[in-house]
Amino acid sequence: MTMNDDLQKRITEALRNPQNMGELTDADSVGTVGNSDCGEMLRLWIKFKEQNGKKVIDRATFQSFGCETAIAVASLATELIRGKTAAEALALRSEELAGELGPLPPMKIHCAELVESALRSALKSDGGQAAAAPAPPVADAAPSLLDKFTPASNPGTRIIFLDAPGPG
Ligand code: FES
Repeated sequence: MTMNDDLQKRITEALRNPQNMGELTDADSVGTVGNSDCGEMLRLWIKFKEQNGKKVIDRATFQSFGCETAIAVASLATELIRGKTAAEALALRSEELAGELGPLPPMKIHCAELVESALRSALKSDGGQAAAAPAPPVADAAPSLLDKFTPASNPGTRIIFLDAPGPG
């Protein structure tokens, strides 16, 4: 089977010109997640805009610690969610976010799930205003967008470590 070669090719392709990499300084919300097993951490910024009376995602950007699959998925996902409402974006599963990469091998499924979790975290970090469903208020909404991946020195940074494999 050449599925893995194929996947590697697609990942390499996505990495050649990753979209939306870097901090979005005027973002409306930010989500950060980490995986304690592999050490990857992903932060995702989202900016909304009004379109036809709806609040939709104008732009999303991300930063990663370096997992190639997570970067490839985040690159695709940040493109995919543009123009969607928060509810529409929240409905996307990791397989859909990884879309063009095709099915991921078991070892790499968590990479896509990390992107999904960062997206959820970001979409919920604006106190639920973006989501159609009411979300509990978040006290420490978005930390300073200038801070980097230095959770130890930034106690305000909200980091969720995903120890257990996600459902599904
Ligand atoms: Fe853990 Fe990719 S290896 S996020």
